[in-house]
Amino acid sequence: MSEHPVSPQRVQAELERLRALIHHHDYRYHTLDAPEIPDVEYDRLFLQLEALERAHPELITSDSPTQRVGSQPLGGFVQVTHDIPMMSLAKVFNGEDLQDFEVRIRKRLDSDADIEYSCEPKIDGVAVSLLYENGRLQRAATRGDGVTGEDITHNVRTIRDVPLRLQQNADTPFPARLEVRGEIYMSRAGFEAMNAEAMKTGARTFVNPRNAAAGTLRQLDPAIAAARPLHMFCYSVGIFEGAGLPPTLSESFTLLQSWGLRVNPERAVVTGADACLAYADRLLQRRASLDYEIDGAVIKVDRLKLQDELGFNARTPRWAMAYKFPAEEVSTQVRDVEFQVGRTGTITPVARLEPVFVGGVTVSNATLHNMAEIARLGLQIGDTVIVRRAGDVIPKIVQVITPQDSKTPRIPVQMPTHCPACGSEIEPAGEVLFRCSGGLVCPAQRKEAIRHFCARGALDIEGLGEKLIEQLVDRDMLRDVADIFHLSGEELAGLERMAEKSANNLLAAIDKARSTTLPRFLFGLGIPEVGEATALVLAQHFGNLEALQSADQAALEAVEDVGPIVAAHIVHFFSNADNREVIRRLQAAGVHWPDVELAQQSQVLEGQTFVLTGTLELMTRDEAKARLQALGAKVAGSVSKKTTWVVAGPGAGSKLDKAVELNIPVMDEAQFLTFLQTS
Ligand code: IVH
Repeated sequence: MSEHPVSPQRVQAELERLRALIHHHDYRYHTLDAPEIPDVEYDRLFLQLEALERAHPELITSDSPTQRVGSQPLGGFVQVTHDIPMMSLAKVFNGEDLQDFEVRIRKRLDSDADIEYSCEPKIDGVAVSLLYENGRLQRAATRGDGVTGEDITHNVRTIRDVPLRLQQNADTPFPARLEVRGEIYMSRAGFEAMNAEAMKTGARTFVNPRNAAAGTLRQLDPAIAAARPLHMFCYSVGIFEGAGLPPTLSESFTLLQSWGLRVNPERAVVTGADACLAYADRLLQRRASLDYEIDGAVIKVDRLKLQDELGFNARTPRWAMAYKFPAEEVSTQVRDVEFQVGRTGTITPVARLEPVFVGGVTVSNATLHNMAEIARLGLQIGDTVIVRRAGDVIPKIVQVITPQDSKTPRIPVQMPTHCPACGSEIEPAGEVLFRCSGGLVCPAQRKEAIRHFCARGALDIEGLGEKLIEQLVDRDMLRDVADIFHLSGEELAGLERMAEKSANNLLAAIDKARSTTLPRFLFGLGIPEVGEATALVLAQHFGNLEALQSADQAALEAVEDVGPIVAAHIVHFFSNADNREVIRRLQAAGVHWPDVELAQQSQVLEGQTFVLTGTLELMTRDEAKARLQALGAKVAGSVSKKTTWVVAGPGAGSKLDKAVELNIPVMDEAQFLTFLQTS
């Protein structure tokens, strides 16, 4: 077959076709959160475009999807003047002040008609202005002091939520010049992943997603921004030259969205200050489940004509208000650092804090993880620190901010030489960890091991909680988990706060726990690194305890998801004579389980895709994920037509809405547990 040179017109047409197609799929994916094609197909289009552009570099245009990252880092930043200044918002902290806001508006408008408000989350990120000319992204700038900002186009171009070209909309074409404003932010999950990676490589970590977003946008090299999880929500229109804007802000949002700009899905139009307050309360409930940080709700008069009439104060509009939520970062003082002993003897430093209200709760302790973390923070007792509690995560010290001239004495933190619970020597265990050498002699380790054995995912002994275990270990009534099955009514009766009825209930619960399952039993043994998911996989693979106990390193490593470290822990655990004796005594006391039927138990959910959203209260998200995966299911981050089930806990938001919209079955956590037990 002879080769015909392809005409330049055909190349041009093909380039245009591919670019338009990719822009369209970017819009479906990033703006509408509703992809039409799988990722691999998108990648294929992208590769095709790249190949064609490589063959015809003279035809590359700056708005091509391949050109998000320009080639050269900048030498410095150029200043940008905002023709229309970028204002900030006045703040209120309670409902009463929000009512006053409405009273003031009514007075100014000299009207007592109902007022409609556009309500949105107040995103904790960086304010940015985007300028589009004839639909092309011409310039992106920071807010700066409101009048003069900095040109950050090179970095903003790398953000996939930001269209390089606006979409055509047959009904309402975009104006010749359009300036939209919004907030660039880093997703929570992206921030956590980026920091975790930075910790591993020893690179700089960021204190919170907002600092990370701001720090990224300040970089001269766009390759850095391209590699970071930045996103944008648009929240207002500045310059608008062309066909008229619709009469309300909420309709403008719909229009912006139709042009490919991303607007917040949590927005709502409500009538009156009371309804704004109800919106803010609902949003506060959902705060922890959003994948981005918010520090309040923004309440704006929806009708643009009324906005014009109300006008501005010196720095803030009269038609808008920020309703602030409780802070997720506050400062406090470290009173002391104590050392806790974990189930396997690991010593964890914990900061005792001057109690503070942060992220909606009072916090008086924060884990410091290990000595390396203390060194990284440069923390000493007496320091003033920033404590952060965002979402549902445990409180964390993120920064030391003790002033230079502080009068409070600072005391360096030192790892004790002997265990605070049993006095045994503390020895190093790995690079940054320390461990109590006391083993089960150490009451702290014993308590933790017993607590773990009785926990919900293990033998699930109701009534045998932390306080009771503490008493039983301290009185030497429990030396190991096998002793649980020899507790008697008389013994229990002698304990504090133990009525006859609760003693009987406890004995009944213990008796019930004798009949268990192999995965629960394995998990309950507390072998390091063997969580619920691994216990399940091990049980499925070996079918019975004897086979597992006699498996060697190689046989264990042959199990899916079991690596050399986990395998070594298992071998080490079962080679210990004390551990084998405890297992023997447990079985002698009547603890039993049916052997696991191999194949039929595994992979029953193969081909099914689950999405978990909202807060799970009875298990962690990781546990839920592990259990689903162990049964062969896939767990995805977003809802699409391919989703089989959505598990929604309290605070579920847009993912739940999407599931309802796409008619995908939803179950709550209780139904999910039953589902897991019967799968
Ligand atoms: S509207 C004139 N809407 O909050 C009104 N601002 O102090 C302009 N912000 O600098 C702002 N989310 O960076 C608006 N949904 C939202 C917002 C929002 C975050 C930031 C913005 C501004 C600051 C107000």
